[in-house]
Amino acid sequence: MQQDILQKFLADKKIVAVVCNQWGDTGKGKLVDLLSSWANIIIRGTGGANAGHTILVNDQEHIFHLIPSGILHDSQGKINILGRGVAFDPKIVIDELDLLAESNISVKNLKISHQAPLMLPYHLLIDRMSDMKAKVGTTGRGIGPLYADFISRQSLFVNDIFDRVNFKSKLENFLANKKDILAQLDKDLAKQILLHPHLGAGIFFDEQNILSVDKIVEKYSEYALRLKDFVINLELFLQQAKKEQKNILLEGAQGALLSIDYGTTKFQTASDCTLAGLAKGCGLREREVDYVFGIAKAFYMTRVGNGPFPSELGAKQSEDYCASGHSKEEEKEKYAVKLPDLLKADDFSQGIAFRLMGREYGATTGRPRRTGWLDLVALKYAMQFNGQNLSLTKIDVLTGLEKIKLCVKYKYTGPEIFYAGSVLKTNQEIAYFIPDSDILYHCQPIYQEFSGWTEDLTKIDDYQTLPQAVKTLVEFIENYTGGQIDLISVGPDREQTIIKI
Ligand code: IMP
Repeated sequence: MQQDILQKFLADKKIVAVVCNQWGDTGKGKLVDLLSSWANIIIRGTGGANAGHTILVNDQEHIFHLIPSGILHDSQGKINILGRGVAFDPKIVIDELDLLAESNISVKNLKISHQAPLMLPYHLLIDRMSDMKAKVGTTGRGIGPLYADFISRQSLFVNDIFDRVNFKSKLENFLANKKDILAQLDKDLAKQILLHPHLGAGIFFDEQNILSVDKIVEKYSEYALRLKDFVINLELFLQQAKKEQKNILLEGAQGALLSIDYGTTKFQTASDCTLAGLAKGCGLREREVDYVFGIAKAFYMTRVGNGPFPSELGAKQSEDYCASGHSKEEEKEKYAVKLPDLLKADDFSQGIAFRLMGREYGATTGRPRRTGWLDLVALKYAMQFNGQNLSLTKIDVLTGLEKIKLCVKYKYTGPEIFYAGSVLKTNQEIAYFIPDSDILYHCQPIYQEFSGWTEDLTKIDDYQTLPQAVKTLVEFIENYTGGQIDLISVGPDREQTIIKI
């Protein structure tokens, strides 16, 4: 990789962001790792423990959910921050700190915004018990209920756990407002869910009220002791960092098509995962960001959880199959040896082959990710919010395929419906993205076909050396979206990166 080109390119930049233009899981972790050598400060600003990234600690893979992957660079003085927009789950952060301590990884430069909304056991309980979990396919990490409380001004914040008396009184008030919701829960099921280690292993359960305020206060006061030294006033900290001309890297979570503002309705996460949401969650303005690495996986894409995905291989069959709890191990054992056969079979089987080839299983839930061809209509839409600079990842995954398909339009197959000032007619072709899930579920992909390639891409380190078939695809994507592809990842390693900037 031409690291020096990247460093030169970043030389006049001070704030750089990494965001995803799809439904998440596009390889942000690798880019953040790559950019850690440039950054002095790495901040997460959105999402919570619904995200997951694999960190190699002493040659062993661990999945982290909240502590940024840049923590491995802590001993070099890199500052990692959990920003004000992060759904802060103290239990998960402490578990991750324990793991890092066991492995002698330094965390002395980790910081936590005092203003981050605080995850409480009832958020996790409500997320896991509500039927939204099944309908949306949430990760069960309390994200929706916590951000809902934030918007309705019913949220506690990290800062609150440091004053026991105040914490208790706020908690009592907020729980009183939830009395009706809690009263409707099935007590036995709630008790069972509260036995989960992430929900206190049973200590928070109260026979009468479902949740015991005293036990929550006691436990969160213990958390406070452990976390005290990490907490900062992020806004003041950043004022100083900007004055000192520090290099700041903003690490996005999830992706634009899952954003609460712009994502496919109902099947969204609860924070704004676009650039604007990320900047805000980091305590910055969007216009302060000097450059955005807007990632898209190519030449396929994935989605975890439910919701429309027009170019999904195997359509509804795949969505139902992926929602019904097949494990990675089971799928690997059953299908891996038959990869070439799968690729030649029906769409659903091809989807399984893509999953195995790209190792597409959820980091947080282990669920198989739904797979399909790259949808350029959706990509162009997402780039409206994340900007025109694209980074393509995983382009080596589909090596060996005879044909590559890109979705360039949709055919609307639903009943006539009023949408955005006009009527969509059955069988009408549409060249723009419709985030309304009820409509998008009726959009069938229209593809343009391209030749595949057989050459190994994983050792190529400059754009010109890529096979012509790949370059044709790259140029087509640029022309279609009006964007510019600046970086291409040809494998999981830092070195396996082509810089085109
Ligand atoms: P929640 O964020 O747990 O509420 O889940 C809402 C939707 O976002 C579900 O479809 C999840 O599968 C999806 N989701 C949440 N986090 C991620 C992620 O990190 N990658 C991909 N999908 C995610």
